Amino acid sequence: MAIILGIESSCDDTAAAVCIDGKILSNVIANQSVHQNYGGVVPELASRVHQQNIVPAVQEAIALAKIHKNDIDAVAFTRGPGLLGSLLVGTSFAKAFALANDLPLIEVNHMQGHILSHFIPESKPSFPFLCLTVSGGHTQIVLVKDYFDMQIIGQTTDDAAGEAFDKTAKILGFPYPGGPLIDKYARGGNPDAYRFPEPQIPGLNFSFSGLKTSIMYFVRDQLKLDPHFLQTNMNDICASVQKRIVTILINKLKKASIEYNIKTIAIAGGVSANSGLRDILTNTAIDLNWNIFIPEFQYCTDNAGMIAIAGYYKFLKKDFSGQDIAPLARMQF
Ligand code: KG4
Ligand code: ZN
Repeated sequence: MAIILGIESSCDDTAAAVCIDGKILSNVIANQSVHQNYGGVVPELASRVHQQNIVPAVQEAIALAKIHKNDIDAVAFTRGPGLLGSLLVGTSFAKAFALANDLPLIEVNHMQGHILSHFIPESKPSFPFLCLTVSGGHTQIVLVKDYFDMQIIGQTTDDAAGEAFDKTAKILGFPYPGGPLIDKYARGGNPDAYRFPEPQIPGLNFSFSGLKTSIMYFVRDQLKLDPHFLQTNMNDICASVQKRIVTILINKLKKASIEYNIKTIAIAGGVSANSGLRDILTNTAIDLNWNIFIPEFQYCTDNAGMIAIAGYYKFLKKDFSGQDIAPLARMQF
């Protein structure tokens, strides 16, 4: 029996979770509302709030799991990629907790954590599978050959998909992070009301910066004709923007599936919570006979459950880190 404490602090969520033999017992997330007024995450504020939240988050995760601190067998933490000051808080806490309780320390790559969130539910994907990992900082298609044998076969050349949602939301006047708000307004709109361009990027790579610029000029020009354009057409604009972003993602996934002859397809990361992406993926799976894996909402955006699970699979391999480990803002698989 192995009980793993997972710690996640790569961006603006302070998260702690406990898992036993690969089953989640608790999954606590403390969000940071402080960034809403700034239109994006302020790194210095994020690390300060992590410092305030980390101890209560871990205490709550242990209490909700109904275990005692002494029952824990290892501490897994996000080493990177992410904001250095934020990562430093989680890393320092994990190191101190491991040292004080004489426990092994397990480093986890945040993006691998998102992918391994698919090993939380009973029904797990079989290897190899393709995972579209879409978050505020990353957009990747990953060939997952084994738990820790992964290869990026496509990625964004500029903005991430989540960034495209958030930057568009900012143009439309929504607070940060605007992705979930675009999703909400899109529900009542016509996705074919406006056509935004699909970038022609070769291979399996993505580009979203041109889309953001075209939306900015489109809104500017429409507002010149009608100052109330946004208020009266918000649902249609959001539905059209969402359709374009989701179509770009799905078209590359289709291409990857053909190229690698793999029909087991997963999505992960914050943008995998998007209802348009979930719907179109579900329909595509029916058409193309894909076996798809969509995470539960609580495991789409940043969480420590995925870090605890990734930690569990490393624990089985006795893949431990030393106390000299430092966080990495940029980190490869
Ligand atoms: O994985 P995540 O929590 O953090 C990073 O590692 O970046 O992803 C956050 C991103 C944000 O850009 C947020 O706007 C986006 O995920 N997001 C969504 C939705 N929920 C979260 N984007 C579109 N629709 C959603 N429902
Ligand atoms: Zn993430």
